[in-house]
Amino acid sequence: MERATRGLLSGTGTRNWGRSVCGAPPLDADALHVWTWNLDVDRRRLSRYEEVLSADEWRRVGRHASHLPARRFIVRRGMLRRIIGRYVDQQPQNVRFVYNPHGKPFLAPELAADLQFNLSDSGELAALAICLQQPVGIDIEQLRTPPVADGLKSYSLTPRELEHFERAAEPERSLRFLRAWTRREAIVKAEGVGLQLLTGQLELEELADHQEPAWEEGGVHCKRGFHLYRLALPDGYVGSLATRQKLLDIRYFSPA
Ligand SMILES: CC(C)(COP(=O)(O)OP(=O)(O)OC[C@H]1O[C@@H](n2cnc3c(N)ncnc32)[C@H](O)[C@@H]1OP(=O)(O)O)[C@@H](O)C(=O)NCCC(=O)NCCS
Repeated sequence: MERATRGLLSGTGTRNWGRSVCGAPPLDADALHVWTWNLDVDRRRLSRYEEVLSADEWRRVGRHASHLPARRFIVRRGMLRRIIGRYVDQQPQNVRFVYNPHGKPFLAPELAADLQFNLSDSGELAALAICLQQPVGIDIEQLRTPPVADGLKSYSLTPRELEHFERAAEPERSLRFLRAWTRREAIVKAEGVGLQLLTGQLELEELADHQEPAWEEGGVHCKRGFHLYRLALPDGYVGSLATRQKLLDIRYFSPA
């Protein structure tokens, strides 16, 4: 069983949960589903996710130096498999992914050639975007003030970008910065490249709130050929979505 709500494009943090659905909800070509779930689960639930991971995912678990990120990785990928499995009518352990040279995962073509997805995580939250026939990128960030201990300087910003964000006082500075950051990462992830490839071509200042007043209304804007959306996430998180074609419907789900 899942809880679903629809059409929320702004990031107010309030959610009006609607009907419950079983299995994979129907997905139209101009719609997108956003699934969010908590990565910190008890031992019993963790073992359910452990059962469905592939050998290469277990190798990745082994690369984590500490316990918490390893557990969160298991829950992230285990739930990814469970959710995607419902869309393609497969058991989670039978869902097969392929990767592009920059590490972006796609569904193996024999499962469903037109189902596109992208995953992001931050803190204890994971978010998964699923749509049809077009590239999608999603990025979420936990709100931190400042975003990292060393402040904005550790993000390798250009002097112009730094100056732009440093103008605001905390906590507004971190909020504005992380919103712009997630917009850029969402574009990078929709392209399926690496952050370093687009940095310099996509100035964060161009993606900042003041450039697009309608951002405040949670509106949709075209940047560099992408439509960008502000996600409605639980309090304490910000996030963005990028797609090539305009979406008419965004629905939110949370697995039970
Ligand atoms: C894409 C990238 C910016 C995301 O970084 P991040 O903010 O730490 O990660 P997020 O939590 O938002 O997203 C992670 C998820 O995005 C997906 N992902 C990974 N690489 C991706 C890429 N290049 N494009 C889109 N999505 C990607 C994966 O599902 C990943 O989850 P997983 O680890 O469970 O597989 C970063 O991983 C990156 O720069 N990758 C490219 C590295 C590269 O170019 N490698 C090739 C060497 S030449």
